[in-house]
Order: sequence, then structure tokens, then C-alpha cells
Amino acid sequence: MERLQKVIAQSGLTSRRKAEQLIKEGKVKVNGKQITELGMKVSSKDKVEVNNKPIEKEQKEYYILNKPRGVVTTTHDEHGRKTVLDFIPTTARIYPVGRLDYDTTGLLLLTNDGEFANILMHPNEKVEKVYIAKINGIIKGEQINKLKEGVEVDGIKVSASRVKLKKVNNKNNTCMVQITIHEGKNHQVKKMFESVGFQVEKLKREKVAFFNLKDLQSGQYRKLTPKEVAKVYALEQ
Ligand code: URA
Repeated sequence: MERLQKVIAQSGLTSRRKAEQLIKEGKVKVNGKQITELGMKVSSKDKVEVNNKPIEKEQKEYYILNKPRGVVTTTHDEHGRKTVLDFIPTTARIYPVGRLDYDTTGLLLLTNDGEFANILMHPNEKVEKVYIAKINGIIKGEQINKLKEGVEVDGIKVSASRVKLKKVNNKNNTCMVQITIHEGKNHQVKKMFESVGFQVEKLKREKVAFFNLKDLQSGQYRKLTPKEVAKVYALEQ
């Protein structure tokens, strides 16, 4: 027996947290009966429906992509722009783990395993996200300290666990800064730099947990190995 929200997440439909929301909203039925409270456990013999559609057992798929600039991190774009799914030939209902902005490049994981996605998206000490940002000025020690101590983004205090000045271009008055964070709030890195007076001109994600881009060129992807998937499950706190 497994918790209902876990079974829904495992079907690839959504994350466990979103599945909990669906249950609370009365959108889930078990053996024809509407369920609105969390806590129910089901077995493979139970018929689970979400929005009156039976959930399917889908083979789990896991990918890492080096996202190019000018691509949206959604499964579908109303304006017909290219999405990250256009780079991965699969019929499985995979979706991106977290989000990168249209103009942000770099490491993006995709899967149809809601549980896996949840582990990486939930703020966790062991899941660091490392970015390299080109900013419009030369950052000073004082500003670096501020980013480490914590700044406010959308009313919430967030901090960088590491900030390293990598390169200075005095001629253009820009610099490259490597910044490590543990949350994944919308536009978090850009807003953090804004809070200390800089605009981010370019942003690339280099690392998520133990994943890095290695030999993946822009637009290239590969499947994760079973070992890598197991290592993500071992990160769960
Ligand atoms: N922070 C941002 O500001 N943008 C991204 O795409 C990712 C993190």
C-alpha cells in the first residue's frame, strides 16, 4: 500500500505536492469515490482517477539537457515558441524539474517521475544549484557578503551559500560571478543581484546537486543512468 498522493505522483502526472492539492480540491477519486482528505493509502488493485481520468502507470524517464537561450521551460507555449521538450524525442509525459528563464542557459533535468522532481525542487542542503552570472558592474566584497548573509526576494529572505568572483572585465565594466543557492524561486538569481544593485546580463546554470554539464553542448541531452537516479533518491531528507 502506498499513499494516494505518491501513487499519483508516480504516474508521472504531477509532483507529490501538487497531487496533495488535487486531493484537497476534490479532483481525485478512488474506486469511484471522491477523496478530499490526505492520508489514504491505495494498492495497485485500486482504481485511481484524477479529473475523472484513470491514472496510468508510465515507464519512468530521466534526462539532463543543456538548455539553449531563447527556449521556454514549459511543456507547451501559447505563443508557439520552442520549448525544452522539443529537444528530447520521447512520447512520455516528461516535464522540467524547476524552471530556467527564457534567456537562461544550462543544466535542466526533465522527468515524468514526480517523486524524483520533488526531491530536487524542495529546498535541501544537499541540493545546491550553481549558476554563473555576467553582471553589469564589478562586485565588491561588501556586496558578496550581503548575498551570503541574505537578501529579500519577493518578501522572503534568501541567501547564497557561496559567491565567487571568477573574472573581471574592467574595459566593459562587467564581471562573472559564480553563485550557489538552494532554493528555486522565480528569477531568484537575477533578483538577488538586483537587490545589491546589479543587472544580470547572462545567466547559466552549471550544476544541480551532483549533476553537471560535462560534455553536453548547448541543445544536447542524455538519459540519466539508474545509478544517478538512485543517488537522487538518496538525497531525500
Ligand atoms: N534565477 C534566475 O533569475 N533565473 C533563472 O533562470 C534561474 C535562476
